[in-house]
Amino acid sequence: MTIKPLIILPDPVLRQVSKPVERIDAESLQLADDMLATMYDAPGIGLAAVQIGVPRRLVVIDVSREGEEKTPLVFFNPEIVASTDARSTYEEGCLSIPDYYAEVERPAGVTVTYVDRAGEKQTLEADGLLATCLQHEIDHLNGTLFIDHISRLKREMVIRKFTKAAKSKI
Ligand code: NI
Repeated sequence: MTIKPLIILPDPVLRQVSKPVERIDAESLQLADDMLATMYDAPGIGLAAVQIGVPRRLVVIDVSREGEEKTPLVFFNPEIVASTDARSTYEEGCLSIPDYYAEVERPAGVTVTYVDRAGEKQTLEADGLLATCLQHEIDHLNGTLFIDHISRLKREMVIRKFTKAAKSKI
């Protein structure tokens, strides 16, 4: 497992729409393992492949609490097929937008279809933090960031801050 460098706002790679993973083979399983290593190292609770510069529809998540056993989840080609009318709000962050957090309201529950590590199609009903995390990560596969769900004023402030920071590093 290799820890990969994270793609940071405002890198345009983050706005790409990711392509489906064609087959679950050694290469795609290696990518999932590298993503998990990168996510745990950060540390974070979710990561989309595009965040390490690979625009493929692959998401890894672990919402287990500190001190609990790790529960790494891998979702190839995840798709939201249903969501609840009930909504919930979480303070979200993103490994591609370090040290910025904002409250985002989303459906409280989602049903997601995906392909697992064994290549089997699965359906998962999620609520709570896992539901929010799945929606946040699946957004990444469509080039959407959590800051797209907050006010325009706040979003523009964040983008300005990160654009300035990126320029000062050159
Ligand atoms: Ni994110």
